[in-house]
Amino acid sequence: MPSIEDVKHLQIPLREISLATNGFAKENFIAEGGFGPVYKGISKKHGSIAVKRLVYRQMLGQGDHQFKTEIALLSKYKHENIVSLLGFCDEKGEKILVYKFESNGSLDRHLNNKDLTWIQRLWICLDVACGLKYLHDNVGSQHGIFHRDVKSSNILLDEHWKAKISDFGLSKVRPANMQDSFLFSHPCGTPGYIDPDYGNNGYLTQKSDVYSFGVVLWEVLCGRLTVDPSYNDERQRLTVLAKIHYRKKTLDLIIPSDLYKEINEDSLLKFSNIAYNCLKNVEERPTMKQVVEQLQEAIHIQLVSRCSFHFLNFTYFIDISSLYSFDTTSNLQYYLYKVLLVKKKE
Ligand SMILES: Nc1ncnc2c1ncn2[C@@H]1O[C@H](COP(=O)(O)OP(=O)(O)OP(=O)(O)O)[C@@H](O)[C@H]1O
Ligand SMILES: [Mg+2]
Repeated sequence: MPSIEDVKHLQIPLREISLATNGFAKENFIAEGGFGPVYKGISKKHGSIAVKRLVYRQMLGQGDHQFKTEIALLSKYKHENIVSLLGFCDEKGEKILVYKFESNGSLDRHLNNKDLTWIQRLWICLDVACGLKYLHDNVGSQHGIFHRDVKSSNILLDEHWKAKISDFGLSKVRPANMQDSFLFSHPCGTPGYIDPDYGNNGYLTQKSDVYSFGVVLWEVLCGRLTVDPSYNDERQRLTVLAKIHYRKKTLDLIIPSDLYKEINEDSLLKFSNIAYNCLKNVEERPTMKQVVEQLQEAIHIQLVSRCSFHFLNFTYFIDISSLYSFDTTSNLQYYLYKVLLVKKKE
């Protein structure tokens, strides 16, 4: 964990935050989260910001710890699919976290957005998978991070629909000398997303994040949240419903019909296999590296299937395979301008 000295440069004076949010005005309020209220603000120095103001009574004594963990991890680990912490304020009894404002908000609010296309959804999933892969594998040769609260409300979307993982307050850093592949820790996270293997026995592995990510994949495919209390049957829990329809090969019954029409059959098969495998027993779940590779394939299949058209009795295929790169993930728009080559086929 960095010391106060290490993060001093991230301190933002309370008056600056107050000015940016019009004194935490009602009009600037975005949402109430587990940490406290979230406000939008405009700062001279940072531009559009999102401000999280800790409310102690909401945090059951965990507030200080989560506040410090968030600062420690986000000040150190940077990635295009991880939210940017601009600074913090620890002044006059206030504990505040300041982030870059992500204009499309969190993914949970867009699950049933009819304008969010299948290809955009795939790209969002790949972004999140790349962020998690970075946390699991790339954050230094010896360490890795268990996020422990992967869920659609912790995935933020910028103006280009690029996805960023947020909320590291519950995260744990794997100790450098850790011999076993698991860590014993008191289960935490959000109901509906917690890996049952971890929830029941407290053995935390990176595969617990894979499970939660699998839940998000089903949410993205089915356009709804994992738990819907308005139902009294198996529809209440998406993971139960998804497994039933996956095994019966009747996923079309739980995917919104307009979205279903857009999805290429093979891309759906690939995507649903990944989502299903993420929910399997811990030993059978894929790693995030494998998930990233398989999602890239699902995108590839979908893109290639869409890149053909008929004209004057010919079918034209747009060959994009060699022209886009998945080394860095980004939005479809970034890649489409690279589509140059058109092959004609009788
Ligand atoms: N950087 C940001 N830019 C834009 N909106 C944000 C940002 N951070 C948070 N929000 C919005 O504020 C909401 C509340 O966030 P918060 O993380 O406090 O709670 P939550 O994710 O709903 O629940 P939990 O506290 O369990 O994580 C988010 O769902 C999102 O809509
Ligand atoms: Mg959150």
